[in-house]
Amino acid sequence: MVGADTAGEALGYGTQVFTGIRPTGDLTIANYLGAVREIVDLQQTYEPVVFVADVHGMTDQSPDTVAEHREEVVKDFLALGVDPDRAEIFTQSQLLRPLGAATVLLSGEITLNELTNVPTLKDKLGDEQDPLSIRTLMALYPVLMAADILAQRAELVPVGKDQIAHIELTRDLARRFNDRHEPTFPMPSAYMADGGGEPLKILALTGDGKMSKSQPGGALFLADDRSEVTRKVRRAQTGMDGQVTPHIESLVNIAKGLTGDATVHQKVDGIIDEYKAGGQVMGQLKGVVTTVVNDFLGEYRYQRAAQGPDLVHDVLAQGNARANARAEETLDAMMSALKM
Ligand code: TRP
Repeated sequence: MVGADTAGEALGYGTQVFTGIRPTGDLTIANYLGAVREIVDLQQTYEPVVFVADVHGMTDQSPDTVAEHREEVVKDFLALGVDPDRAEIFTQSQLLRPLGAATVLLSGEITLNELTNVPTLKDKLGDEQDPLSIRTLMALYPVLMAADILAQRAELVPVGKDQIAHIELTRDLARRFNDRHEPTFPMPSAYMADGGGEPLKILALTGDGKMSKSQPGGALFLADDRSEVTRKVRRAQTGMDGQVTPHIESLVNIAKGLTGDATVHQKVDGIIDEYKAGGQVMGQLKGVVTTVVNDFLGEYRYQRAAQGPDLVHDVLAQGNARANARAEETLDAMMSALKM
């Protein structure tokens, strides 16, 4: 101890890279390409901390749905290449005591007006006939998310574009807390792959919008077997008259995203060139996509089957303990800043 005047020095970063996933459904190929793959890439350089946002899941899903997916998501992450020797994984509910306390304390830094102006919440409220009828847990979502990030004292937070407003709010809350009380939190930043360029677009195979579990017919799930994949890809929308439609681009993104094999990439490019020149080659493109997806899922199934019975438990026990220690340390600093 150097002396009392060091009190109030901000805590250092606790984690370099920190992100969360809501365990609200079976994962799709789009979840892999959009989120999991990035963590796998980042773990070459950093030691990422990933958490299962199961308390967040309760904002719009039943406890049963969340319970069903809580450990499945972790098994999937591990099977998809998240390396437990590099990355730490924990479940939010196992940290609910410090996180709940941090959420209450952080909620002292924001008015209801500001909270209801957070874009994601504003959209939700706008959809309701009676906006104030949404549950308070839903309204607290952004503050709980800030608590997740600040409790781990995260430096970089990889998130999609739709989450940027939440990171901004997290920074505002941290800044206010630091300014109004004692310097406590280091500042987190949003991390976007490829310098924040357009994220890879993976569309529903049929119909409108992104590939997501809410449109199961147009989504390729990790759990889909070979015949399901073949059937779904065969029905996928493409285009006509040499026009490269968003649906075609999305199929190309899937094929190229799921394999690093240069010959496959060349083959896909060749098919698209032929298509643009008037060739009837969409069947060929679908053939390549089907093969790539089935090879990828074959490896995924193999990795999942190879997991020992204790793997998830061991990974989570270690991750929960470490994350909990960080969160408790942060909470202590918050309380001391508030003269508690
Ligand atoms: N809100 C994020 C989503 O819907 C999930 C999430 C919760 C999260 N807490 C987080 C992401 C903290 C990053 C950091 O995808």
